Formats: sequence, C-alpha cells, structure tokens
Amino acid sequence: MDKTIKLDKEIDEARQGEATMVAPEHRTHGKKLYVESYGCAMNFADSEVVASIMAKDGYSTTRDVEEADVVLINTCSIRENAEQRVRRRLTNFKKRKVHQPSLVVGILGCMAERLKKDLLEEEKLVDLVAGPDAYRDLPNLIEEVGTGQKAVNVLLSREETYADISPVKLDTGGVSSFVSITRGCDNMCSFCVVPFTRGRERSRDPETIVQECRDLFEQGYREVTLLGQNVDSYRWNMTSKGEIKDADKPTTNFAELMDMVAQVSPDLRVRFSTSHPKDMGDDVLEVMAKHENICKYIHLPVQSGNTEMLKRMNRGYSREWYLDRIDAIRRILPVCSISTDLITGFCDETEEEHADTISMMNIVKWEFAYMYKYSERPKTLAERRFEDNVPEEVKSARLTEIINLQQEHSKMRHKDMVGSIQKVLVEGPAKKQPDLFMSGRADNNSMTVFPKGDFDKGTYVLVKINDCTTATLLGEVVEVLPPAKTN
Ligand code: SAH
Ligand code: SF4
Ligand code: F3S
Repeated sequence: MDKTIKLDKEIDEARQGEATMVAPEHRTHGKKLYVESYGCAMNFADSEVVASIMAKDGYSTTRDVEEADVVLINTCSIRENAEQRVRRRLTNFKKRKVHQPSLVVGILGCMAERLKKDLLEEEKLVDLVAGPDAYRDLPNLIEEVGTGQKAVNVLLSREETYADISPVKLDTGGVSSFVSITRGCDNMCSFCVVPFTRGRERSRDPETIVQECRDLFEQGYREVTLLGQNVDSYRWNMTSKGEIKDADKPTTNFAELMDMVAQVSPDLRVRFSTSHPKDMGDDVLEVMAKHENICKYIHLPVQSGNTEMLKRMNRGYSREWYLDRIDAIRRILPVCSISTDLITGFCDETEEEHADTISMMNIVKWEFAYMYKYSERPKTLAERRFEDNVPEEVKSARLTEIINLQQEHSKMRHKDMVGSIQKVLVEGPAKKQPDLFMSGRADNNSMTVFPKGDFDKGTYVLVKINDCTTATLLGEVVEVLPPAKTN
C-alpha cells in the first residue's frame, strides 16, 4: 500500500499528489470532451490549456464520461503508485470501448511522455498519446485516430509555453487559479523523473502572465498561484547564465515578475510554488515583504536534512545552506509559514542521515510537510548510479516516524495561531456541515473554517481563531472587509 501521507489533503490535491479533477460543462456545440487530471498543479493548469485548444476545435467539456466522444487522461509519473492508479483507470476506459467503439481515449502528461508509444502499441490501452509539449497537436491527433493511424506526439520543445492560450477554467465559479510561469526543469535531482517527462526549463512571457492574472481578476478570481518546478529560476530574455538575450527588450526575473503580478490589484492574492532552496534569493523575500497581497507562505522542499544525502540527491545545496535560507525568511519576513517535502529511504540512507532529517525537522518546525517513501523511477540518475537498497520496512518505519513528528509540529504551529486574527479569502461552504460553515485559506495557506455569515465566496474576512486541529483553523468572522479602493 502506498504510504504517501497527505497532512493537508486539500492542499495536496492541488499539488504533487494523485488527485483527480473532472472538467465541468461549457456551452459550445459539437463533440464532447471529458478530461481527468492526476498529479501536480501544473497538470491541472495544463488540462485547462488542453480544454482551450479543444474548444477552438469545437469540443465542449463534459463532467459526464457517459456522453463523451473523447476522453483525455492527464497523467503523473512522479512515483510508481501514481502510474499504477492511471493504469487501472485506463483499463476501465478500455472496457467502456466495448460498448462505444467510437470513443477516443487519449493519454496526456508525464506518463505519456515517459512511456511514449508503449501504452498504444504494446499494451493497447489508449488510442492517442500526447506529451506535455504536444497539446496544440491534439486536434490533428484525434483526426489521425479517426483514420486508423497511430496518433503519437511526444516531442519535447525548448520554446513551448502555451503563452498565447487563454486557459478554459474547469472549476467554474472558483476564486483561486493556477497560472503557469515556467515549464520543464533543468535541475536533474537524482530521484526525479520530471526533467525527462517535461523537458528543458523555459519561462513564459511576463506580459502574458500578467494579462492572464488581470483576466482572472476580472472574472472574479481573487487568488493566483504562480507555478513552476523551480519558480526562482524564472527568467525572461536571459540565458540560464544570466546573459541578456535581446538588448532592446527588458529582462524579468522572478522577484520582478511577482512585483508586476502583485500590482494587478491589492485584492488579488499572489501565491507561488515551488521555491528551490538553491535559487531562492533575498530579492524574492523582499518583494514579498513589499506587497501585502503576496501571501506569506513559502513551500521550500528540503528532501533530506543531511548534506551527504543531499549530494546524492543532486539537490545543489547543503543542510547549512537550507538553514541559512530559513534564517533569511525569518529575518526579512517575521511572519511567514514554511512547508517542505521530505523523502525517506533514498539510496544508501543510513540511520545517521535519517536522524539528521529528524533534527532538521526539530530546528525548522515546518508548518506542513509532504512526505514520501522513495520510489525508484526509470532513467533517473539514481536508477543508473545507485541501488534502491533501503528495505521497504525501513522506508516505511522512517516515514511513519517523520509523519508523527510533523503532526506534532503542524499542531503546535496552529496552536500558536489560536487567539490571533487572520485575513481569510472565503472560498465557499465548508466540506463538513456546509449548511452551517464556510471555509477559506488564511494568508499562510491554513484552511480556516468559520460559521456562515452575510458574505460570499471571493470576499476577504477577518477571522478570530478560537481553536485548531492539525490541518485546520477554527474561528469566527469579526469583520467583513470591503473591496480595496483602486485608482
Ligand atoms: N520541483 C519541486 C518538486 C517536484 S516533485 C522541487 O524541486 O522541490 C514533488 C515532490 O515529490 C518532491 O519534492 C519530492 O519530495 C517528491 N518526489 C519526487 N520524486 C520522487 C521519487 N522518485 N520518490 C519519492 N518522492 C519523490
Ligand atoms: Fe524534480 Fe528537482 Fe526539478 Fe524538482 S527541481 S522537478 S525535484 S528535478
Ligand atoms: Fe507528476 Fe509530471 Fe507533475 S510527474 S508531479 S505530473 S510534472
């Protein structure tokens, strides 16, 4: 059984988990598309790009798979169990084709890129395969399926950012949206499959990012999360070495991009994910301090608390470097929540190395952590260079140990917030007792639940925190904030 534990499932669903989202209906004519998404926020954002490309080709989206002409499954390869889940789903769709032979089933995303034509030719599970940089080709690929050809496009690109495509929102009526700012990853952490499935890192034109954020605000969204595997390495009109590409055009780095997005409206909250400890500079922290509407929350994955282990992981920083970044956050942003990702049982992990992770947890006391057992991925540096030699029971025992400790820390962090007043963006009825309670996120990303009142989703309220659990703050609204005055 997968031991991946989601301390805050609701946040995790939008991150690197194995969550699904089903596309709702849009009013257009012609054939119907059903999209299902797995994996990280970038996949969820990509599914909206896909819906937009397909809408131009006359497809409307449906939530009901029964009425779909085309089913597209956007997949994740990050851990073995993420792929297994998709295989089970694809097997179900294959059965459906017995009754509906004209149904086109396609696989998108990281598994499509990793397995290329295997799922089509060898396993015959799908009719169509499109990698993350091939979505503009989907209408052609679907046509090829219709003419009995092998519809596969897994070409990775050095340029594609889908910058000009205005995503079709799949969660109609939401207040929070993802906005992709980079694609791919150049880092080559030894455990990670992403550089192979997403290709080289590239940044999206800042003007199109700001415009998308403006459009979202106009449509009623009040929160954007800027997405990239390593947002701190966002750079426009610059090479990876920092040289200017076109001297006549301005350059933009991540801190500057955030500064631009934060100015869209004081009522538009700005979040971002994921920060990389090796690249997160003080300039980013300073721009966070400058704008009230940039949320004081940083997801800063450490993976391990031991420097030798970090070297094997090829993460590009040491334990001391990470702790220095934590000090910088505490110095520049006196109130700021920090979360992390941790892996247990990576190749050759010793008891001492694991103990260093525990000691790091006790020093930093992260607000949240996403914790995983190491899962070997084909083609990665680790698969080629090291042995996946930590026994399963040891991986699990270490995972359980860090989960238990993290739960204490999360609870402690929340307890520290009891008695405080938090600015919360109302998202809608709470999951439990939706007739009585509403929920939304505090600035630090904590899910906050409070009694229903005379305010709608998309409103900012001040909530006095009276109680908490490990994952949730509980309180009462003390003030409903009016919209900010804009010039
Ligand atoms: N770009 C982000 C992480 C993307 S993947 C970063 O560098 O921080 C999200 C998380 O999945 C990683 O932080 C890591 O903790 C976990 N992960 C990635 N590959 C994994 C593997 N092979 N086994 C277990 N966990 C893995
Ligand atoms: Fe994977 Fe490392 Fe890139 Fe994150 S930074 S996506 S962990 S290679
Ligand atoms: Fe998964 Fe690909 Fe994201 S492997 S975590 S969907 S980049």
